[in-house]
Amino acid sequence: MKNIALIGFMGAGKSTVAELLAKKLNANLVETDTEVLRLSGFSNINEIFDEKGEEYFRELEEKAIEAAVKDGNTIISCGGGVINKKQSMEVLKGNADVVFLHASFEKIKDRLKNTTTRPLFRQEEKAMLLYAQRLSAYREYAHDMIDTDDKTPEEVVQIIIDKFGSTYGH
Ligand code: S3P
Repeated sequence: MKNIALIGFMGAGKSTVAELLAKKLNANLVETDTEVLRLSGFSNINEIFDEKGEEYFRELEEKAIEAAVKDGNTIISCGGGVINKKQSMEVLKGNADVVFLHASFEKIKDRLKNTTTRPLFRQEEKAMLLYAQRLSAYREYAHDMIDTDDKTPEEVVQIIIDKFGSTYGH
């Protein structure tokens, strides 16, 4: 059983890379934010945070991750705050190659300048603080880290395939 999980801050490119990677490896694709929405019955993430709170979101995220690792051969694109819940990270660590997509805060700001769907990126100051607080956790939990600042998503995908892709393919 083999899975690849992508972690990293909002705007690190996890969703784009995960989609390309799944296509190239002929693997399943799970976007945990999409699964959380499905499980919650809400139509967007802002609503979940505003009406139910972050802890509720994290519980659903953990459920989504537990389900995602079961089939194997799955690329899992995790929400940026997945590292906030130890149980989620233990499930990922035990069942997936965990890759940290790193990006500088400047790059992230640029990539997210038009975002409206990220409750934790509403205030730049707070987001910057969160970024600084989370960096060490991303590093600690990941089996590998890729700096994405000067790379295209295709280049990032190729690096991941070179490192972890050999067990995939049907
Ligand atoms: C979050 C990141 C989001 C989403 C939610 C919380 C975070 O996912 O899960 O808004 O805590 O950083 P992306 O990293 O895909 O934007």
